[in-house]
Amino acid sequence: MEITILGIESSCDDTSAAVIRNTCLLSNVIANQDVHKKWGGVVPELASRAHQQNIVPVVDKALKDAGVTVDDIDGIAFTRGPGLLGSLLVGVSFAKGLSLARNIPLIECNHLLGHILAHFLDEEGKELKHPAFPFLCLLVSGGHTQIVYVKDYLDMEVVGQTIDDAAGEAFDKCAKVMGLPYPGGPVIDKLAQEGNPKKFKFAKPSVPDYDYSFSGLKTSFLYFLRDEVAENKNFIEENKVDLCASLQSTIIDILMTKLVKAAKATGIKEVAVAGGVSANSGLRKALKEEGERRGWNVYLPQFRFTTDNAAMIAISGYYKYLRNDFVSLDVSPTSRVTEMW
Ligand code: KG4
Ligand code: ZN
Repeated sequence: MEITILGIESSCDDTSAAVIRNTCLLSNVIANQDVHKKWGGVVPELASRAHQQNIVPVVDKALKDAGVTVDDIDGIAFTRGPGLLGSLLVGVSFAKGLSLARNIPLIECNHLLGHILAHFLDEEGKELKHPAFPFLCLLVSGGHTQIVYVKDYLDMEVVGQTIDDAAGEAFDKCAKVMGLPYPGGPVIDKLAQEGNPKKFKFAKPSVPDYDYSFSGLKTSFLYFLRDEVAENKNFIEENKVDLCASLQSTIIDILMTKLVKAAKATGIKEVAVAGGVSANSGLRKALKEEGERRGWNVYLPQFRFTTDNAAMIAISGYYKYLRNDFVSLDVSPTSRVTEMW
């Protein structure tokens, strides 16, 4: 049986729509919002307005790129949360409108589940390797940092998570204090490649079990810069690449330590990474190296599926469709989600 799903993602600052047929990706359109750049972070009200402008053309292009019409769509999957409420509202309302107008079943999706299930997307003509169950997934985005024990497509457990900031937030906030543009993660990644990761030492947290913390690192980074700049006002400019390399290697170290601990405790050797920060070249290298040392099978997402996209929502929708897991028109978005599916 062929099932065609339209996915819609609007949880933060990217408006995206994608079409998949079973697990095979037919199209994935993303409209980025440049409007936030000059504010150094996402402005929720501006994000909602941009989603409102983008949503129709983005969905239209996704259908055209896929070579399908609305009549071919068996289910509409949308991100219900977590995310910015005003942004989510645009995607949810659009999905509901289309569902009502064309009598197409609605499927609610968890954005975080989407990042993980992106590992199961197939593409025509490509032999893609997918993780085998159970696997561990390090989920690192701008809003979340978790280690997830994935038992099945829709059956997973969070074994550890950040008690304060997310890893992506640590990248973005530290970039901001160095005067780098938003989002800081990719900029730090690029600059770090030319720097010495051992030049500066920053605080590493001590939190129990498999949990994370990044706010101490952010604060120590800020105070360190403040003291150095008081003595030399060109300190940041003169040390930019080394600051980026040292900061990045500290974040990676923090992430890897708990992941290794969780892998040891569970005995699992299938290890995946997902979310915006999984685009980081240093983290990808660290995972590969750790994997070789410990005999893990490591799964790194393609770059285009690391940051927010609707393909990941469409694939989540596909697995929920197979379970007849639909929602009615009275569904509303939620900024926080406690369940994974
Ligand atoms: O998953 P995502 O697109 O949005 C959320 O769900 O939050 O993740 C965005 C985050 C931002 O914090 C951004 O700085 C970070 O991913 N990011 C990176 C890189 N590319 C994106 N962080 C480090 N290195 C990168 N190459
Ligand atoms: Zn995300």
